[in-house]
Amino acid sequence: MFDMRPLNRRQFLALGVSSASAVFLASRVTGQSLPPAPNQYVSKDGLLDIALDARYEAVNLAGEQAYLYSYNGQIPAPQLEAKPGDSVRIRFTNNLPQPTNIHYHGLHVPPTGNADNIFLNIPSGETFTYEFTIPDNHPGGTFYYHPHLHGWVAEQVFAGLGGAFIIRGELDAIPEIQAAQEVFLFLKDFDLDANGRVPQPWHMAQMMGREGSLVTANGQVNPTLSIPKGGLLRLRLVNASTSRFYRLALEDHPLYLIATDGIPLSEPVELRELLLTPGERAEILVRGEREPNQYRLLALPYNRGGMGMMGGGMMGRGMMGRGMGSGMMVQSDWESTRNLATLTYAGQVETLPLPQKLIPVETLPEPQRVRRFILNHGMSPGMGMVFLINGRAFDHQRVDTQVSLNTIEDWEITNTGVMDHPFHLHTNPFQVISRNGQPESFRAWKDTVLVRAGETVRFRVRFTDFPGKTVYHCHILDHEDLGMMGTIEMQKSS
Ligand code: C2O
Ligand code: CU
Ligand code: CU
Repeated sequence: MFDMRPLNRRQFLALGVSSASAVFLASRVTGQSLPPAPNQYVSKDGLLDIALDARYEAVNLAGEQAYLYSYNGQIPAPQLEAKPGDSVRIRFTNNLPQPTNIHYHGLHVPPTGNADNIFLNIPSGETFTYEFTIPDNHPGGTFYYHPHLHGWVAEQVFAGLGGAFIIRGELDAIPEIQAAQEVFLFLKDFDLDANGRVPQPWHMAQMMGREGSLVTANGQVNPTLSIPKGGLLRLRLVNASTSRFYRLALEDHPLYLIATDGIPLSEPVELRELLLTPGERAEILVRGEREPNQYRLLALPYNRGGMGMMGGGMMGRGMMGRGMGSGMMVQSDWESTRNLATLTYAGQVETLPLPQKLIPVETLPEPQRVRRFILNHGMSPGMGMVFLINGRAFDHQRVDTQVSLNTIEDWEITNTGVMDHPFHLHTNPFQVISRNGQPESFRAWKDTVLVRAGETVRFRVRFTDFPGKTVYHCHILDHEDLGMMGTIEMQKSS
């Protein structure tokens, strides 16, 4: 979802002024500067070999002690980096008090065996070794690993689990991109009670998708990024939140989108703002073309819908502060602007140009088949609300969708409910063709696409390389846990 309105100076000024009055001022630590590339593990001699464990312990979050789930005690988790052709070996130990597993979101690797297999259940105390190879033709970009055991996903991601998985590739070899300074922004919200623990969410918060009022970038509140005048910044953004959407804008600076969900565009696209829903990633370039000053990276108000479902009694509670133990999002937060990070100017370089061309995005042939999916919710006796795809809640034993490898399909996803749902497909990326019948304005690869309440989104996908069973689901992880997920079996064509 990209806002394509052309830039004009007046809009920028208006944006600056209105957000100044509405901005949510972080009451905690502000203005910390970003640590240089923390906790990176980079493949060597064709192998990325690391030990990861999921654990529950006290960590430092935005300057305070918090009891969170983490990989290796780090928030955000260690950043993994490999190249096409590399092997990946992750010796994973589950030190959580509950079962879990790991999903490699967006990677085009087998969804089976000890690769990206989300049906695995790794019990508490057990070790499991993930092993897979990044295909030689894998696009370079920003990917995302997180737990994916149905029923536990929202809780475990919200408690802190998740990290970036970088594939270095063709985009990184473009000289203008190489000249840019690379900054990762891993966006994640938390909810902590007065003791620094993550409270159980209210039932309604779970229905809406739990959000927390502590909004962080790389585990910090409002870190500072710097750019030299004339320079270029390459921001790699991951929405690692359980449910929160980020409608991003950088004061007085256009965003030049260069990659979506880990895959490069054919040329930069200039945007005024960028909506990043859970699971989505984006890479943007920022030019140091303004007067040296401080500019806020903002998360502008966004209403995900569904507030009508909340009883009147729920609405009255103010849940902005820490220590409410609420896990509860109220509309007032959806109406406020937040300051995610601050851009400052430091130094000066000769003006760096934007790249003209990036990596060609192929045009997929016409589909051999069209399928339709309806996203909605319903009531189930004793369970309250359930979230459904084509009228059914998730069942890992059922195969909902059977496809043949090396075929092209169009999927038409219609959201007939009252809440927005970001729809995600594992293993194979797709291209959005149209939204409510309107063609997309530029071609891009995606693995997660927002389907707003009332919308129909059509995308085109080619199933390649890997047979086996995996899933598609809403990436508001509470909705996924509450049933909005289906299985897909990819079969070798006979
Ligand atoms: Cu990031 Cu199936 O999810
Ligand atoms: Cu995924
Ligand atoms: Cu949803």
